[in-house]
Amino acid sequence: MTDTRAPGRFITFEGIDGAGKSSQIAALVALLESRGLSVDQTREPGGTALGEKLRDLLLHEPMHLETEAMLMFAARREHLAARIKPALEAGRWVVSDRFTDATYAYQVGGRGLDAAKFAALENWVHPGFQPELTLVFDLAPEIAAARVASTGVNPDRFEREQRDFFERVRAAYLERARMAPERIRVIAADRPPQQIRAELEAIVTERWFR
Ligand code: TYD
Repeated sequence: MTDTRAPGRFITFEGIDGAGKSSQIAALVALLESRGLSVDQTREPGGTALGEKLRDLLLHEPMHLETEAMLMFAARREHLAARIKPALEAGRWVVSDRFTDATYAYQVGGRGLDAAKFAALENWVHPGFQPELTLVFDLAPEIAAARVASTGVNPDRFEREQRDFFERVRAAYLERARMAPERIRVIAADRPPQQIRAELEAIVTERWFR
């Protein structure tokens, strides 16, 4: 991505359920658009017609943990081919609510998937390709769970998991961030939304708009 034709940038948001990504994604997209950039906002699992069908299965249908990991990557394969790569090649910015770091955190960290199997899938589906910037929203699971409960929406298969599951997911995100410190920024999500928003603005400005 060293092309000088103003190539697109790929930014992802991560964190345990209830960490507060959604409103910050909207704010970041608005910020980028205010700078005249063309932004494609998407999510995983999902982002394509097929991916949304797989999402429905993943969030509601009981399955083996390896089936779950493979379906996450199947949806991602489609997402990359049909949406992410074409957008980036056209110079658009892509902002995704979750990507491969979520599979590391939830399936490897949370469920105990063999890390070598995860790495094989990652390497198969997107060898040498990663987001340019990943923002991990870090929050204590008990606070996040209270936020999820307060939405009143019926919890999905992941949201029904217990606190120790989310402790493992959180730890796996932090471990992944330590492995890729240039790419992954950990955001303390226990602060007022306005403060978090200002931090995201500062990160993006420093990286791309100085
Ligand atoms: P998300 O869209 O954040 O949920 P919601 O719309 O309820 O806020 O993500 C859906 C769930 O999928 C979330 O609990 C995390 C899980 N997930 C994985 O377990 N592995 C993955 O690779 C991805 C992308 C998501």
